[in-house]
Amino acid sequence: MEPITALLDEILEESRALRDGAPADYIPELAVADPDQLALAVVGPHGRVRAVGDADAQFTIQSISKPFVLALALQERGREAVLAKVGVEPSGEPFNAISLEAGTGRPANPMVNAGAIATSALVVGDEIDDRMTRIVDTLSAFAGRSLWVDEAVYASESATGDRNRALAHLLRSHGVIDGPVDIAVETYFRQCSLLVTVRDLAVMAATLAFGGVNPMTGDRVVREEVARDVMSIMASCGMYDFSGEWLLRVGLPAKSGVSGGLVAVAPSQFGVGAFSPNLDGHGNSVRASSVVEAIAERFGMHML
Ligand code: DON
Repeated sequence: MEPITALLDEILEESRALRDGAPADYIPELAVADPDQLALAVVGPHGRVRAVGDADAQFTIQSISKPFVLALALQERGREAVLAKVGVEPSGEPFNAISLEAGTGRPANPMVNAGAIATSALVVGDEIDDRMTRIVDTLSAFAGRSLWVDEAVYASESATGDRNRALAHLLRSHGVIDGPVDIAVETYFRQCSLLVTVRDLAVMAATLAFGGVNPMTGDRVVREEVARDVMSIMASCGMYDFSGEWLLRVGLPAKSGVSGGLVAVAPSQFGVGAFSPNLDGHGNSVRASSVVEAIAERFGMHML
């Protein structure tokens, strides 16, 4: 094993002892996840993926889709059109909070559910399929391979997603969503159900780290300023009501998802993907957070 891979393996194994938390169960299909799964991948400027643990385990991307669909909305619509519908302030609230700015009805930021539903509604296309084609193509370009939806997880979330549907209705009542609520919310559920591995997450994060160019494929996925905007919002809002403490302790833009995935970006250096299903009270993976914190520490990656 190369020295760097051995070091990643050592970091991963240190976090295996953490037994706190539990898989998300408000989406029934996520509750069946094997809580012992643990994986880590890192991608540097040459696009080479170094991965340890259950690196080929597939899981649904969930909220980690949010920064990448935001990138698509920024790319297609521009910053001002996106800011007209969703803010960029940390909410200090849980991911599923009712988030409506007084006066405008804008959700606090695109990382909480309400803001992500508003963002998905900005993706160009009249029907769910049109929007999903753009979303799948964009997230696949970020990952450097073709991604697809886990239909069982999608059906499970759609069958139980009353809170997100309610958020979408509130957004529409304020004119934040223009079109039909169902199209916005089902598109959002489908984007959350895309299957990924930690390798994919690391390549996606690295594509942001290198200004919108995928270092594995060499393809430009989004404009440089779009990648910078997305990383800025991940830094302030990506870990929900733990974002401030995360920035203090780890110092990297990051985004978590309720299936246990986590991406972190060291701008111009690395993309990191980590996964383990047990979550803490903020909805962030206990072990994935600890692994990324340890990497940032050992490699001196804190931005400040
Ligand atoms: O909308 C939801 O509740 C899920 N599809 C995604 C939430 C999520 O991943 C929160 N992250 N930790």
